[in-house]
Amino acid sequence: KIETIDAYQIYDSRGNPTIEVEVTLASGTKGYGLVPSGASTGQFEALELRDGDMHLFRGKSVFQAVGNVRSKIATALCGHDVFDQSGIDLVMIELDGTPNKACLGANAILGVSMAVANAAAAEKGVPLYESLGGTEGSLLPLPEIQIIGGGAHANWRTDVQDFLVIATGAKNYAETLEITFNVYHAAGDIMRERNKYYGLADEGGYWPEFETNEAAFGVLTEAMVRAGYTPGKEASISLDIAASDLYDETTGTYHFRLEDRRFTSEEFTSLLIEWCEKYPIISIEDPAADTDWGGWDRINRAVGHRVQIVGDDLFTTNLTRIREGIRRQAANSVLIKLNQIGTVTETIDAIRMTQEAGWLPIVSARSGETEDAFICHLAVATNAGQLKVGSFARSERMVKWNEVLRIERQLGRRARFEGGNLFTQLAR
Ligand code: PGA
Ligand code: ZN
Repeated sequence: KIETIDAYQIYDSRGNPTIEVEVTLASGTKGYGLVPSGASTGQFEALELRDGDMHLFRGKSVFQAVGNVRSKIATALCGHDVFDQSGIDLVMIELDGTPNKACLGANAILGVSMAVANAAAAEKGVPLYESLGGTEGSLLPLPEIQIIGGGAHANWRTDVQDFLVIATGAKNYAETLEITFNVYHAAGDIMRERNKYYGLADEGGYWPEFETNEAAFGVLTEAMVRAGYTPGKEASISLDIAASDLYDETTGTYHFRLEDRRFTSEEFTSLLIEWCEKYPIISIEDPAADTDWGGWDRINRAVGHRVQIVGDDLFTTNLTRIREGIRRQAANSVLIKLNQIGTVTETIDAIRMTQEAGWLPIVSARSGETEDAFICHLAVATNAGQLKVGSFARSERMVKWNEVLRIERQLGRRARFEGGNLFTQLAR
């Protein structure tokens, strides 16, 4: 039984305020929930409640959300059975009463939801992945790891937000990290040699200094070759275009600021399809804006049988939007972020809906992260298959990659790994 629920303000990887929730059970067992925060957020995401007083933490403090946990949510949930995760999440959804959790704040609700999940696992004395997924969860995720970070995470030095690698040829989870380590450091060496090393972006990838967006592909493929790999074999390129950030709703056009080029939706999809033909690209996230369904349709029809087409801002982990995307066959993969929707139960339901459609879910961190590794357990519990956490540097990122190593050890011979074989599903 839940005895008390407390909350307080902590700080994320950008030093911005966020919320931590502490749930204490009658037995004395505790569970914590640490809430992440995005920068290139989608317009359909659940609401992150910030106080907005510009004299206090530049408007970013979360004291109202903290207050909502301590008063309304605590009152509603104290005495509740901690093992009833879906019941608890439903109480909060109904208490909030809005479609986007704007009343209590999705950050307040998610902090409690995650803390309850952690408290339940601790009370059972099992790891979180087992508490969430029973003995079914055993698939170690294939990582998608950022090498160069642009867009909203690097003051728009490139328009494309993430240039990532997926170790498509790795035989096990440990080898995905070895391949990524080698490619990441080779890319850093290349940038240093060319006097293009300007430090790291928000998620730990290199800060880009390029004349064009496309120039980044040269560094990526060169880094793979220098590390001893064949691009497209052991390691492949993945992109997050985050196209909603490049889109002008009124004119229906996309803009590359770096090159000052404007594109109609047709021209923009043609460019991305051309990139897929020229470079060893295995995955593209948000290739079109979250309202440009025509753009999604064109790119998915052209390359969706061999390239993973991922909806992040398009779906915002929202069941209604994912259902609509599946009906339209707009993509073949869904990025899954707990704080886009605001409860653990709805997040797991979104993963299940994605899998039932034969699509690929990718559990993801945010650009503003914490020292928490909840999402690793979520990925294993649901057999999601893929994990996106940012780059291979900085402890708020490494804590996640390392946690999967620990889970691999704990699972022992039960651990499964599909790696790049996941993508054979796209051809169906
Ligand atoms: P965000 O970026 O956390 O800033 O939204 C991550 C992403 O777009 O995948
Ligand atoms: Zn994204």
